[in-house]
Amino acid sequence: MKNILVVGSAGQIGSELTLALRDIYGGGHVVAGVRKTRPSEKLVETGPCEVVDALDTDALVSVVDKYKIDGIINMAAILSGTGEKNPMLAWDVNMNGLINILELARERRMKQVLVPSSIAVFGPTTPVDNTPQETILKPTTIYGVTKVAGELLGDYYVKKYGLDVRGLRYPGIISHETLPGGGTTDYAVAIYYDAIRQKRFTCFVDDYTRLPMMYMPDCLKATIDLMGADFDKLSHHCDYNVGAMDFTVADMVVSIKKHIPDFEITYEPDYRQEIADSWPNSVDDSAARQDWGWKPDYDLDAMTADMLKAIGEKHEKSLI
Ligand code: SER
Repeated sequence: MKNILVVGSAGQIGSELTLALRDIYGGGHVVAGVRKTRPSEKLVETGPCEVVDALDTDALVSVVDKYKIDGIINMAAILSGTGEKNPMLAWDVNMNGLINILELARERRMKQVLVPSSIAVFGPTTPVDNTPQETILKPTTIYGVTKVAGELLGDYYVKKYGLDVRGLRYPGIISHETLPGGGTTDYAVAIYYDAIRQKRFTCFVDDYTRLPMMYMPDCLKATIDLMGADFDKLSHHCDYNVGAMDFTVADMVVSIKKHIPDFEITYEPDYRQEIADSWPNSVDDSAARQDWGWKPDYDLDAMTADMLKAIGEKHEKSLI
């Protein structure tokens, strides 16, 4: 690929992925597509930024033509929590946005489309421990429904049109640059901010809740490595399980207390508890390991140390 468009560049993953790709492909070759959210200074300073809404096909086409885009990464999505509050919006953004991108990529014979999926494709009847690559996909959230459909749609474009579409099932992603928005796993980010700001946190899921999680540097590595993998070596296309670590909220508290001994937590589970309970504890990612050499670097304690340091520095500068 020569010129990449990242749709959803202002989001939690998009903001960091765009910068990482600019380091590899060159600033001018990676266009940050943002919708309404103001892009960060870093995004504006390091390369082109354009207003892109995947639901506005004309605007999408004009950006693709202007920059001779030959690869699209679609990071725009309505996540699980927000999706339950507005299922029609989730369907519209997650499905119609995706098919607009796939159709444009097919018409322009683009080199690659990356469409992330999620652990939200799994549901309460899926095996919870070491969830296999091939398993029951019966999610109970609209977000999960759109992610299963998105995986199937991407695979369809591979088979029917020979378009190179790839995707991986992200676990909960934890980071300190851009806040996540509207996900069930957002508590695993918020806990670090509140630990630094006030040494206490009220958690919207209970202490026993265990989910697969990943630190942002591993998320960037997984995404970039999958993008660069040899197409012929891929035994899957849009649905790679990728694991890194899994832990309960209680485990997070232990890890944080190693740095902030008087940290306190209270639990007030809400509607997101049921969502979290429907997702796996851990995933089997041996296909990703075999096909494109996936291997995570961070565990819970390494991530906690890094998160608290980064957020602590922001706090000292009154940036949070
Ligand atoms: N982080 C997402 C969510 O919680 C899962 O992919 O909705």
